[in-house]
Amino acid sequence: MWHIQVIHGPNLNLLGQREPEVYGRVTLAEIDARLQAYAAKVGIEVQTFQSNSEGAIVDAVHRAAGWADGLVINPGAYTHYSYAIRDAISAVGLPTVEVHLSNVYAREPFRHTSVIAPVCVGQIAGFGPQSYRLGLDGLIAWLESHTSF
Ligand code: DQA
Repeated sequence: MWHIQVIHGPNLNLLGQREPEVYGRVTLAEIDARLQAYAAKVGIEVQTFQSNSEGAIVDAVHRAAGWADGLVINPGAYTHYSYAIRDAISAVGLPTVEVHLSNVYAREPFRHTSVIAPVCVGQIAGFGPQSYRLGLDGLIAWLESHTSF
């Protein structure tokens, strides 16, 4: 059974009320519930965590190294400039998929750069809440193809 840590970054606790024309009306609690339902269906363990603080996200990445096989992370705005989160992912060496609800490449130029993506195995953007499930699927596929039985 794969063990996967999902991390939500800053302002994602406001999903449902935050710029619904960009991010939709689904709340973070609903996304987490859908992820748990999907995890039960496909037989994996998922733990979810949200923080608005860079350091708390760095700590969550470090903790995940103790039990998780991989990470799915939506770093929010930290995507575009947090070398601390990038270095944490690189330091623990967990395979990581970066996800975004919105298609960041169709938005403002500052969102076109991710300092996190180069230390990830892949990236999903633009599918709303489904980005998280697609990210989980991508991570599971990566784990299965990189494990010898
Ligand atoms: C986001 C995109 C980021 O640019 C933004 O700062 C967010 C959300 C997304 O999921 O689309 O907070 O990560």
